[in-house]
This record gives sequence, structure tokens and C-alpha cells, in this order.
Amino acid sequence: MESKSEVGIIGLGTMGRNLLLNVSDNGFGVSGYDINKAQVQLTLDEKRANAFATSDLKEFVASLNKPARIIMLVPAGKIVDLVIADLKPLLSPGDIIIDGGNSYYKDTNRRYQELKDTKLHFMGMGVSGGESGARTGPSIMPGGDEEAYHAIEPVLNAIAAKSNGEACAQYMGNGSAGHYVKMVHNGIEYGMMQIIAEAYGMMRHVAHHSNTTIADFFEHCSQDMLSGYLIESAIIVLRKKDDLAEGDLLDHVEDAAKSKGTGKWTSQDAMDLQVPVPTIDMAVMTRDLSSWIDLRNTLMSPDVSFTHHKTDISEAKLQRAIYCAFLLDYTQGLHQIAQASKSYEYNTDLGKVIRNWRAGCIIRSSLLPLLDQAHQSSPEADHLLQNKELYAETIKYLPDLHYIVNISLESGYPLPCMQSALTYFQMLSSGALGQNMIQGLRDHFGAHTYERSDREGIYHIDWETDGKSTKIK
Ligand code: 6PG
Repeated sequence: MESKSEVGIIGLGTMGRNLLLNVSDNGFGVSGYDINKAQVQLTLDEKRANAFATSDLKEFVASLNKPARIIMLVPAGKIVDLVIADLKPLLSPGDIIIDGGNSYYKDTNRRYQELKDTKLHFMGMGVSGGESGARTGPSIMPGGDEEAYHAIEPVLNAIAAKSNGEACAQYMGNGSAGHYVKMVHNGIEYGMMQIIAEAYGMMRHVAHHSNTTIADFFEHCSQDMLSGYLIESAIIVLRKKDDLAEGDLLDHVEDAAKSKGTGKWTSQDAMDLQVPVPTIDMAVMTRDLSSWIDLRNTLMSPDVSFTHHKTDISEAKLQRAIYCAFLLDYTQGLHQIAQASKSYEYNTDLGKVIRNWRAGCIIRSSLLPLLDQAHQSSPEADHLLQNKELYAETIKYLPDLHYIVNISLESGYPLPCMQSALTYFQMLSSGALGQNMIQGLRDHFGAHTYERSDREGIYHIDWETDGKSTKIK
């Protein structure tokens, strides 16, 4: 390769190689590095005039224009630290390292601090869209050093998915904002996937439909009010024939799901921030519960089985229930991002987050323009449901969610995420959560004090005698 590259990519697995080809397609010179020579060879085999690959890190860095702009696409965790340690002595002040993996945002904060003294720029950047997204246009969530962002901005804008002509690669905010937004994106993804799995499960095991009929249902949804990547993905999964046994592949796939941790981090951090995201929590919990296969086998009981009683389900109502549950899942995650932005001083623009998700990412769907609209009309709202139109939209489809949850209760088929979404809205819109009882109980057994609804102050009373309330503060 004669001239130097504008971008470097570390990690030439499928994601990294696809991103490299995407950068190359867009006319930027690009160098790739991987310790694995076979991956390097696969990249060289593409025979691109503006792309180069090597398994020699020194040669890789030397092939880059200054300031070096290096995107790492390696598995989250220790490897990120090891790669940074190897890179550090080869780089000079002003060079930019961008972690494009699904790193935990607290690790990103630590790495940012560690690199500060070296005058190397560091950015945490979420990338969504899987392998095909990386190749044809992912949704990119860059955060951290803003000066560094501007140095890589033209490349990100060129390679990212576009929505209404706008690149889905807008800046997400300070520090670890990029990785935080990607983490919550994945939390929402867990919720949406679980909602789809619940709709499938009900149709398969309660209404006793075939996979083909269920695929037809999702196909109809995607042409109607529910288009989006995950619905399209569900149709493909439902229609796949098995190559190892008779029938549909899905019927031979173990009923237990794994996870890499981003959903769990979302839930954990939401709890730290005291932001309720019950639909995400339930999706994480369901995957965890599903993996206790031996335990489930010992407890499986025909007495509580729903499979004996075929129940008809209105497909129109199910579609609207999924829509409503999706809306509530998105609003929970966006509420978390808004609160995190305040607590962690990210200065994240929620409108940019929503617009970055309109194309390229796994959670893209026809609901995002509606959320964008809600945010534009009520930019100061703490929660998107405070926007009148979005509230009205939720209320409109709430009876459908209610109907589906009722079938769940009657049939015994569990719908943890759909039910949590319904309960979330019922609780937010209720003036009576029974928490006065919690206050009473805490003050009774632990003198934890209580607050009143009719006057200011913090009080304690001896609940068992006829003592008077004491104002503590
Ligand atoms: C994406 C995906 C991607 C990946 C998740 C899967 O946006 O492209 O979210 O990041 O699919 O890491 O996470 P789990 O293995 O935890 O389901």
C-alpha cells in the first residue's frame, strides 16, 4: 500500500472485517490488524486498493496517517486493556483510540482516566447492527472526547446507516456516554426480543398455531403497524426448516437463552440510579430462569400446564399489545438514559439517541419516528410519556395489552415482559400504590420515619401506643 490509511481497525473477526470493507467502500484508506494471520489473510484476499492488513502491530500503526484513528472491535473485557497496553508505546500524543465493542461503561470511564496523562484520546463507541450492519451501515453511538469525535466524524457519518438522509452516528455525550447508550439499547433489545418470544409462545402453546401461521402473523404485523428489524428476524427464524431433523428448526432449539451481560448491566445500573425499567429486568430474569433446565425439569407439572386448553387469541389485539409493550420498553430505556445523563454528566441529547436508532441498529422499528416526534414536542419532559400524544397512543392500545395479559392469567402461560409493561404503566398512572403502608411498616418496626401527604417534614410515631407524631425534621 503506497499512501497511509485514514483509519485503523483492530480485530478482523466478521464484525471488524465487515466494518473495514465498509470504510474502504466509502473511499477511505483503511488498515486492519489482527493477531490471527488467517483473519488477516481473509482481509487481504479482498484485494482492495485502499485497504491493508497485517498481524504486526508496529507495521499497522506505521501505516496510519497522523493523528492515528484506531477503532478496536475486540471482545469486551480484559482483551481491550491488553490491546491498549500494546498500542500505547507505539502511539503519540493526539492519536485516537476508539473502543467499538460492547464494553461496560465503568471500564470505559477507567480507561479514559488512565489514558488522559498520555495525551492519547479515548472514545467509547457503541456499534449496533450485527455483522450485516457493520458491512452495509450500522447505527453508531460515539461518546467521550469531543475533539477526537470531530476528527473521526466524517468517517463515521460515511459508514453509518442513514435515516431521512441523516447519518445514525451522532455524538452521544461526554465520558462513557456512547457505551452507556449502547448498553441501554441492548437492554431495550432484550425487552423487545422477550416480547416477541412471548407473543410467539402464546400463539404456539396457547392458541396451538403452527410456526408458519405465526410467521404469517408477524409478516402481517411488519406490513401494518409493527415494522422493524426484530420482527423481520422473527419471521426468518420461524420459517427456517431443520437440516438435522424433520420439521421446523425452531421446534428443535432448546428452550433456554444465554446472554453476554449487557442487559444485566442495564438493569443493575437502573437500580443504582433508582430508575424503574421492569420490562428490561423481566427480560434479563427470563433468560436466567430459562437456563435452569434441570430445575425446571424437576418442577414441570401437567397440573399447571396451559397446553391442554386451546385458547383463541385475537391476532389484531395481539399485534396492538406488542406495539404497546414495545412503546413502554423504549420509554423505560430512554428514561434511564435521561437520568444517567444527569447523574453522570453525559450531556446526552435524547433526540440524537432516538434518531441514531432509527436505522442500522437491532432495535430499529416503526415506533422510533413516533418517539422522536414525542421528544421534539416535549424536549424538556423527564419521561417521554409526559408527551400528550405518546400518552394518548399508549392509552389507545392499553386495552389490547390488558386483553393479552388476561389470557396469560387465565391460561397460565407466563408473559413476564408484557405483564411488566402493563404494570409499569398502571403504576405510573396510579395515584395509589400502597406505599403509605410501606412507610407505616418501616416506621413501626424500625423507626425509619415517615413522610405525610398533607404537610412537610419527616415524622415518627410509636404505632403501638397512643403517643403523638414527632416531627424529626
Ligand atoms: C447489536 C447487538 C449486539 C449483540 C449483543 C447480544 O446491537 O448489534 O446488541 O451488540 O447482539 O451483544 O447480546 P446478548 O448476547 O447479551 O444477547
